Amino acid sequence: GPKLRVALLGCGAVGAGVLDYLKGRPDLFEINPVLVRRPHLHEEHADFTDDLHRALGEAPDLVVELIGGADEAAEIMRSALRSGTHVVSANKAAIAKHYDALHACAEASGASLRYSAAVGGGTPVLEMLARLGGSAGIQAIEGVMNGTGNFLISRLSEGWSFDEAVAKAQELGFAEADPAADVDGHDVADKLSLLVREAFGVALPTDRIARQSLREVTTEQAQAALARGEVLKQVGRCWLDADGRVHAGVQIEGLSVDHPLAGARNEENRFLVRDAAGLERCLHGKGAGRWPTASAVFADIMDLQRGLLLKSAPAFEMGEAIPLLRTA
Ligand code: HSE
Repeated sequence: GPKLRVALLGCGAVGAGVLDYLKGRPDLFEINPVLVRRPHLHEEHADFTDDLHRALGEAPDLVVELIGGADEAAEIMRSALRSGTHVVSANKAAIAKHYDALHACAEASGASLRYSAAVGGGTPVLEMLARLGGSAGIQAIEGVMNGTGNFLISRLSEGWSFDEAVAKAQELGFAEADPAADVDGHDVADKLSLLVREAFGVALPTDRIARQSLREVTTEQAQAALARGEVLKQVGRCWLDADGRVHAGVQIEGLSVDHPLAGARNEENRFLVRDAAGLERCLHGKGAGRWPTASAVFADIMDLQRGLLLKSAPAFEMGEAIPLLRTA
């Protein structure tokens, strides 16, 4: 069958994982030279480039955007979508900030824009909201949704210094190169902005979400909380009030140890979603790091690949057995 030509932009912690997955399916994907900042640092130089035009090539079927940053990344995604190229991204900052423009470009050309990995890493929280939103309706979401922040607070309560903890989170590959977004709550605010869109269909820009920084937490406070039987957590929350208005914020809170969010360990993410009938669901899993995030990006890529195959396959009636798709 026809292979998808993939332009992979970015090869950091997540991109390198995605590249590995793509290379594992040479029957499905042809990979353009991968866009990186410093191609000479990579073993097989020829497979990497710092030239965006070379990375995009003639007309890729799919652009996988993992370069980070908001504006430039969004511009690249917009121009790909405009020309009908599908886009998969994990870039919450770019998608939160340019949500309407990106979706308008996708709608106009019929191309797909997917970003499951942008919230919760490998945790399918956006997918869960889409399902609930279409059925039970959503009332509130609260969660521990930054792996780095959660890791930092856990280390503080064990007596580590802030700087030691940040350095370790970077070494483990889940803090961003510039950890300010993690530490100051921007990353959680971007995620809340996307959750609010998915859950309530409302535009709430990241910069209108109140944030409390982790820099306000000291080792002593974290340890004192533990002594009281509480766990400090960076909690992101959004909800619909009785008048139908949406609220959101990022706060450092002492949760009692039996609170469902209190048990989130290290880089884990946890989400509590309450539907309109008051039923709660808890979703947890690895929210940051190479493999959890890369697996969510690759799941988006495989969804697209299957969708495109189905389009080109002969139609079948609902109720019939679904034919096995072979592409090799
Ligand atoms: N730096 C982020 C985190 C990665 O630590 O959660 C996922 O957004």
